[in-house]
Amino acid sequence: MKRVYFDNSATSRTDQAVIDAMLPFMKEHYGNPSSLHGFGREAKKAMDASRASVAKLINADPMEIVFTSGGTESDNLALKGFVFANKNKGKHIIISSIEHHAVLHTCEYLQKNGFEITYLPVDSDGIVHPETLEKAIRPDTILVSIMHANNEIGTIEPIGELAKIASSRSIAFHTDAVQTVGHVSIDVKSEGVSMLSMSAHKFYGPKGVGALYVRKGIRLEPLLHGGGHERGMRSSTENVPGIVGIGKASEIAMDEMKTEAEKLTRLRNMMIDGVLKKIPRSNLNGHRTKRLPNNANFRFDFIEGEGLVLRMDMRGFALSTGSACSTKSLEPSHVLIALGLKPEQAHGSLRISMGKDNLEEEVNQFIDALPEEVAKLREMSPYNEANPMVANEPWCSSEDHDHHETEVR
Ligand SMILES: Cc1ncc(COP(=O)(O)O)c(C=O)c1O
Repeated sequence: MKRVYFDNSATSRTDQAVIDAMLPFMKEHYGNPSSLHGFGREAKKAMDASRASVAKLINADPMEIVFTSGGTESDNLALKGFVFANKNKGKHIIISSIEHHAVLHTCEYLQKNGFEITYLPVDSDGIVHPETLEKAIRPDTILVSIMHANNEIGTIEPIGELAKIASSRSIAFHTDAVQTVGHVSIDVKSEGVSMLSMSAHKFYGPKGVGALYVRKGIRLEPLLHGGGHERGMRSSTENVPGIVGIGKASEIAMDEMKTEAEKLTRLRNMMIDGVLKKIPRSNLNGHRTKRLPNNANFRFDFIEGEGLVLRMDMRGFALSTGSACSTKSLEPSHVLIALGLKPEQAHGSLRISMGKDNLEEEVNQFIDALPEEVAKLREMSPYNEANPMVANEPWCSSEDHDHHETEVR
């Protein structure tokens, strides 16, 4: 059976050119970049080149890039590092209610340590409205963190507008751009962000390496103390092969991003139109157009998303119910709940995230296979409206049916 990978937001296949670039830094050029000898100098030179490539991808200065172990660490360093260094100015932080757990759980930790957090609501498409930010700002607000694109529903946030509001009040603005870097073009200068997180494995680079853009003049308290690597912001011998990998992935993204986004937008639209047309009582989660080129997230009435993921897996399709990190939990996704969905609707959701290897024929095969599996699950579902046990449940009312009617938004 041919397998189709539609889970690129969880992680992507490492590009062969990235692997080829990394291998010599494990085999021959294995020096420590801090060493003075030739081995060390080779490693340092490669790391500098990679820093320049990563910086170019987001229009930053190479000195504004701090290499980390991935998106989670970048988010932790941005949030904890910033507020610990600036706590004399205030203790209030603003984030959105749909942030990744790397931001949400970091803020929960900060709250336990004396900081106050405001969670901005989103509309039913997952957009953070600038006026809600304006209203939430207090005299003691020191940091705003709003993700660039949501990893579950793909909605892209107006970070330029949001960052402008923050900077007009001299408040730092961080964005978790883990799902967008390498996929949509980002210019940290024109967006006006103070800090930006990225992760290599989301854009065809290796796992375990990422970066944090820290605008010149922003002060961070390091989380890791030691030899003073990364200009004192992140001690530990650098992951040179990984850093070479993120550099190569950045170079490839600069060449391919535009054509890839055009192709994926076309496939995504085919996917959305096909699924909504073929499956009754299906809906799209997230904004119809302000969304990642590769993301389609649906909800199906009377369905349990995990069951659907497993059935589609048996047919060769790798999909996800939400973010990879929340699949271990029985709680409905906080993102879908923030959109205003009921827990049973959130549980009936499915995320498809395509990548540059995906083909039009795979989208068509998926659209052909899905209705049968949805129908089988609905037959078995205790939530099916045909089941007299649940026909009188409030969420099964005709009013609700209007809301769930198949529509392309
Ligand atoms: C939006 C977002 N932020 C942060 C992360 C964490 O990145 P990493 O897996 O590199 O730690 C992810 C990964 O799923 C993500 O999607």
